[in-house]
Amino acid sequence: MSQQLGTLEDLPEEYRAAMTEAGVAPLWPMMRNVLPHGAPNPVTKPGYWNYDAIRPLLIQAGELTPVEKAERRVLVLSDPGRGAGAMQATASIYLGLQLLLPGETAPAHVHTPSAVRIVVEGKGGFTVVDGEKLPMEEGDLVLTPGGEWHDHGHEGSEPVVWLDALDLPLFVYLEGSYAEEGPLQSQRNRPDASQVEYLSSGLAPVRRPGESARKYPMMRYPWGRTEQALRQMAAYTDGPIELDYVNPETGEAVLPTMGFTAMMIGAGDALEPVLKSSSAAFHVIKGSGQVTINGETLTYGPKDTFTAPVFANMSFSAADETFMVRVHDRPLQEKLGYYEERAR
Ligand SMILES: [Fe+2]
Repeated sequence: MSQQLGTLEDLPEEYRAAMTEAGVAPLWPMMRNVLPHGAPNPVTKPGYWNYDAIRPLLIQAGELTPVEKAERRVLVLSDPGRGAGAMQATASIYLGLQLLLPGETAPAHVHTPSAVRIVVEGKGGFTVVDGEKLPMEEGDLVLTPGGEWHDHGHEGSEPVVWLDALDLPLFVYLEGSYAEEGPLQSQRNRPDASQVEYLSSGLAPVRRPGESARKYPMMRYPWGRTEQALRQMAAYTDGPIELDYVNPETGEAVLPTMGFTAMMIGAGDALEPVLKSSSAAFHVIKGSGQVTINGETLTYGPKDTFTAPVFANMSFSAADETFMVRVHDRPLQEKLGYYEERAR
């Protein structure tokens, strides 16, 4: 196998000009950029967003820009590897912090990318998806899958902030990203499916022959239950305390491309996960500690967010009991057939 491939400069200038004129280029000088040996060479750099630093800017956005002028009042978390303004936090994951003030509504729309909201603070916010009103409480995970109409409202008295995670970069790359707008949805007068059909893990509603479950049967995953489940896992299991958010009917990931994993690390505990081919964003629900990502150490606190590129080498050290939600692209990679884990 050749180690040293020919460069552009090896070629006569006249030949290079003729290639440009003909709209072609030689592959071999660029080959290693797109097919490096052994492992990908990510553009994504580890990112860290301190909530205490961002919150005042969000509140100011609420004063400077009425929701009607923003449609979605969001500060985007840009990948440091791609620079300020990048509409992505990793190659496949977009992250934004969204503010909704009391009485405001974010109008109904539908789009091709899928989104998840992880509620950061505030009471009284809600999302309506396909007529189902989903309350938004701290730590809740709320789905608005691609192709589903959704709007947001706020019946409380304090600002509501949530973290948006979307597979938007994929849809932009595929030139498949677009939205349509519509009137606010009328809401069904009943609690969401997490409080009715899927109140208890392992139980699903009986259906008549030929009747199928909704594609996205449960669109809200209340944090209280997730934390309780993690604590119970911690009491009876060794090793990483992690639970995947799944579709309660199929056991599959909740969305086609994005996966979500709830994590717990005990106070004073360390975690050294295997290297994963998936990129990830970590949102701290509560707790504090340190994490080293590819040699860079950062200190995290409640409501902070940080990202890790593919095959990142990570070490966590929790000062306080830590709960996090990991957003990742493992479901996409599994569908494409290349998800992989490697020993450290
Ligand atoms: Fe949306």
